[in-house]
Amino acid sequence: MKKDLLSLLDLEKADFEHLFKRAIQLKERYGKGIFDSLLTGKTLGLIFDKKSTRTRIAFETAMIQLGGHPIYMSTQDTQISRNEPAKDTARVLSRYIDCLAMRTFDHALVEEFAQSSSIPVINALTDSFHPCQILSDLMTIIEHKGGYKNVKIAWVGDGNNVANSWVNAASVLGLNLTLACPDNHSIGQDFIVNAGADTLDNIVFTNDPWEAVKKADVVYTDVWASMGEEAELEGRLAAFEGFQVNEALLSRAKSDVLVLHCLPAHRGEEISEQVLEAPGAAFWDQAENKRHMHKAILESLILS
Ligand code: CP
Ligand code: NVA
Repeated sequence: MKKDLLSLLDLEKADFEHLFKRAIQLKERYGKGIFDSLLTGKTLGLIFDKKSTRTRIAFETAMIQLGGHPIYMSTQDTQISRNEPAKDTARVLSRYIDCLAMRTFDHALVEEFAQSSSIPVINALTDSFHPCQILSDLMTIIEHKGGYKNVKIAWVGDGNNVANSWVNAASVLGLNLTLACPDNHSIGQDFIVNAGADTLDNIVFTNDPWEAVKKADVVYTDVWASMGEEAELEGRLAAFEGFQVNEALLSRAKSDVLVLHCLPAHRGEEISEQVLEAPGAAFWDQAENKRHMHKAILESLILS
């Protein structure tokens, strides 16, 4: 039966472990100039309703480097924009391509595509989740910290799609995760319950960023207004005061703290220029790892 990757709750711990190992292996092989033609003759479709630099290009290059082909479809250029039902589009695309990566606003749309497709569907970000991002971020943490066990991860900022996926990962892997969000911007209760996180003591929710980053090994942040929320930014700037990841806040973390950001970053808002441009910063390695992780995801879904 075909598998989808719509949220990290679709994966078991063994699946995470396999993807980490395989992505690191594929990265090493690529570094040695070895091209693994694992997906020759296979096609990945990408339907993106929102902007993307990293996720789109990482998926496209991953597919090309594995010997396959990507086809990018802006929603505006397809009959989706003229209200062809998702279930019809999904059934037709299943006759042409081998896998579909989707970036949409409403998560329910990705679920609808997955239900009607006979090919694997990958969530490349929705308003609710960004699973592929967290998989490659955990790969970066493993590279820098030697693993994820006994690693304190602090999320500082908005309780958004990326944060929801962190909660999902923490509930499957037992991560030591503390999320500091302003009161009206915390993780939605429905996401917490769905992640099983209401009963897990390895996940801490607070509105105090100083508490969250105390002795943290990893500090992670993301924009204060996600795609689709741009009009709210002005109001949000006040709500998020004190939540900027800057040198003062990081002084509470461990001295070898790894600072991560999924990017794109808004300098002077959720992260300071100084932290973003710090020598040895890992943001660019983090972005690169998306390509390697996407290869492992594509291989596991298309060839399973
Ligand atoms: N991190 C991430 O998903 O970036 P893009 O929006 O550029 O794809
Ligand atoms: N939370 C951000 C992530 C971008 C990669 C957004 O949805 O815009």
